[in-house]
Amino acid sequence: MEGKGAYNRHARLQAGGGALALPQLEEAARKIELGPSDQPVVIADYGSSQGKNSLAPLRGAIRVLRSRLGTNRPIFTYHIDQPANDFNSLFAVLDTDSDRYALDEPNIFPCAIGRSFYENVLPDNHVNLGWSSYAAVWLSKIPMPIPGHFMMLGSTGAVRAAFDQQGARDWEAFLALRARELRFGGRLVIVLPGLDDRGVAGFESIFDHANAVLAEMVDEGEIKAEERERIVLGAYVRRLSDLVAPFGTEGQFNGLIAECCEMSVLPDAAWLSYEQHGDKELLAAKHASFFRATFMPSLTQQSIEQAASVEQQHHFADRFEQRLKRRLADEPGPLHSYVQLLVVAKVGAVP
Ligand SMILES: C[S@@+](CC[C@H](N)C(=O)[O-])C[C@H]1O[C@@H](n2cnc3c(N)ncnc32)[C@H](O)[C@@H]1O
Repeated sequence: MEGKGAYNRHARLQAGGGALALPQLEEAARKIELGPSDQPVVIADYGSSQGKNSLAPLRGAIRVLRSRLGTNRPIFTYHIDQPANDFNSLFAVLDTDSDRYALDEPNIFPCAIGRSFYENVLPDNHVNLGWSSYAAVWLSKIPMPIPGHFMMLGSTGAVRAAFDQQGARDWEAFLALRARELRFGGRLVIVLPGLDDRGVAGFESIFDHANAVLAEMVDEGEIKAEERERIVLGAYVRRLSDLVAPFGTEGQFNGLIAECCEMSVLPDAAWLSYEQHGDKELLAAKHASFFRATFMPSLTQQSIEQAASVEQQHHFADRFEQRLKRRLADEPGPLHSYVQLLVVAKVGAVP
């Protein structure tokens, strides 16, 4: 995600998707087993980025937990992300944001862990309540290049099959690791962008425009063709059937059961405002900033020389964003997308 707090400023789409899951997160906070009263309660936030979008969910969960625990029992919150994440912005948000969940809460202890969630990030049987929003869509590795596109939604045949395989493997790995970390009676609430039964995600148009921008940049000599070929987004969007597949006919996976698995439509808030104000440039600017803050660092990393300075990377992102904005303003369209919600509970022993 783009650093210096940019993701926090431009990830309203993800905030909207996360908000749809707040009732289920609060219900999970009501249902979890709290364990011995002399031990802290542990909340884990898997893929927190810079933290702004974690504040409302964690505040809601903590409010429910406090009503069960009273004020004295310590609550540890762990925000987990990749080592390269902008943890400075995360700590600033946790410390000073007016919506911070530790405000007036003396016994909350926020922590951060810089390690991939495709590894164990916390000890076994440690987490009471987990939250992961718009994060497990990122793969542990990119299986192969995508000819003619940079996003798996634009792939077919053997390339798509390789992404399908990686997506299935990573999803099982993610769940199996969380199964270890959860305590018995613990819950994990997962929010993801999704595909409907036809395989449509709802935000194909912005990826196609971005793909056309990359082609323009090659044609006009702004990036080399071989740099363009290296650009692949390590993200994989799943169907609901993919999410429940590991649970099989037994309904269990490594001691986890799926208590809830559903999908809803997330209306594009920027588009709904555009229908009122009619300003195409403003709509395009919002969509382009969302795209840049969420996806540009992954694209930049792969496209330009390893030795490129931060200024060169920034310059590349600026030129890309300007071009994307131009295209989006010329062809305004909504990004109504799908949001999946999965709640899993740990009920059995992990093999
Ligand atoms: C789109 S952001 C979501 C941030 C926030 N949860 C939200 O709902 O807006 C995805 C985050 O997941 C993180 N992420 C991706 N792969 C990861 C991994 N293997 N381990 C830990 N974090 C990862 C990214 O670094 C990024 O900060």
